[in-house]
Amino acid sequence: MPVQLKTLIPLFAVFIILFLIARHFLIPDSFGKYGHYRANSIDEIAALPINYAGKAVCIDCHDTEAELLASDAHAGLSCEVCHGPNAKHADDYEIKEYLIKQGTREFCGRCHSLNPARKIEVINQIDIKEHHPEKENCIDCHNPHAVWELKE
Ligand code: HEC
Ligand code: HEC
Ligand code: HEC
Ligand code: HEC
Repeated sequence: MPVQLKTLIPLFAVFIILFLIARHFLIPDSFGKYGHYRANSIDEIAALPINYAGKAVCIDCHDTEAELLASDAHAGLSCEVCHGPNAKHADDYEIKEYLIKQGTREFCGRCHSLNPARKIEVINQIDIKEHHPEKENCIDCHNPHAVWELKE
C-alpha cells in the first residue's frame, strides 16, 4: 500500500461518516414513503386555502352570463380568468370586493394584443392601439360574454 493512502483512508472515512450523519439529519421524515418525494408535502398543499371556485359554481347563480358566454367565442374561458379568483364571493355573494370587471384595452389586451410568441390561429390578436381607437374601451363595442354581439 502506498504511504499516502495510509493518511488518506482515515480522512475519507471521517468524511463518509460526517456525510452519513448530516444526511440523517437533513432528510425530511416522510421522504421516501411514496418514492423519491417528501410525502408530507401532499398534506401541506391540500391544506392551502382555495381561491378559485370554478366555473360550475359561478354558473349556479349566474345563468344569464353563463348562457351568453357559452354561445360565443369566449365559450372556452373560465369566469375567473376575467373576474379574478372568487371562492370568497361564491361562498358569500355579498363579498364583491375581489371581483374584477374590466373591459379596458389593457385588460383585454393581455390575451388579444399582438404578440409574436402567441399563435394567431389559436387566439386572434389585434394591435390594441390601431383597432378601433375611436372608442376608449373594448367593451364599448364587444360584449365581454358574447364578443360578436357588437354594440356598435
Ligand atoms: C350563491 C350565488 C352566487 C355565486 C355562487 C356566485 N355569485 Fe356572483 N353574484 C351573486 C349575486 C346575488 C350578485 C349580485 C349582487 C348585487 O348586485 O348586489 C353577484 C354579483 C356578481 C358580479 C357583479 C358584481 C358587481 O359589482 O357588479 C360578478 C362579476 C359576479 N357576481 C361574478 C361571479 C363569479 C365569477 C362567480 C364564480 C366564482 C360568482 N359570481 C359566483 C351571486 C353569486
Ligand atoms: C372575457 C372576460 C370575461 C369572462 C370570461 C366572463 N366575464 Fe363576466 N364580465 C366581464 C366584464 C368586462 C364585465 C363588465 C361588463 C360591463 O361593465 O358592461 C362583466 C360583467 C359580469 C357581471 C355583471 C353583470 C352586470 O349586469 O353588472 C356578472 C354577474 C358576470 N360578468 C358574471 C360572469 C360569469 C358567471 C362568467 C362565467 C360564466 C363570466 N362573467 C365570464 C368579463 C368577463
Ligand atoms: C384569458 C384570455 C382572454 C381574455 C382576457 C379575453 N379574451 Fe377574447 N378570446 C380568448 C380566446 C381563447 C378566444 C377564442 C379564440 C379566438 O377566437 O381567438 C377569444 C375570442 C375573442 C374574440 C373573437 C375572435 C375571433 O376571431 O372570432 C373577440 C372579438 C374577443 N375575444 C374579444 C375580447 C374582449 C373584448 C375582451 C375583453 C373584455 C377579451 N376578448 C378578453 C381569450 C381571451
Ligand atoms: C368601435 C368598436 C370596437 C372596439 C372599441 C373594439 N372592437 Fe374589436 N372588433 C370590432 C369589429 C367591428 C370587428 C370585426 C372586424 C373589424 O372591423 O376589425 C372586431 C374584431 C375584433 C377581433 C377579431 C379580429 C379581427 O380582425 O376580426 C378581436 C380579437 C377584437 N376585435 C378584439 C378587440 C379588443 C381586444 C378590443 C379592445 C382593445 C376591441 N376589439 C375593441 C369592433 C370593435
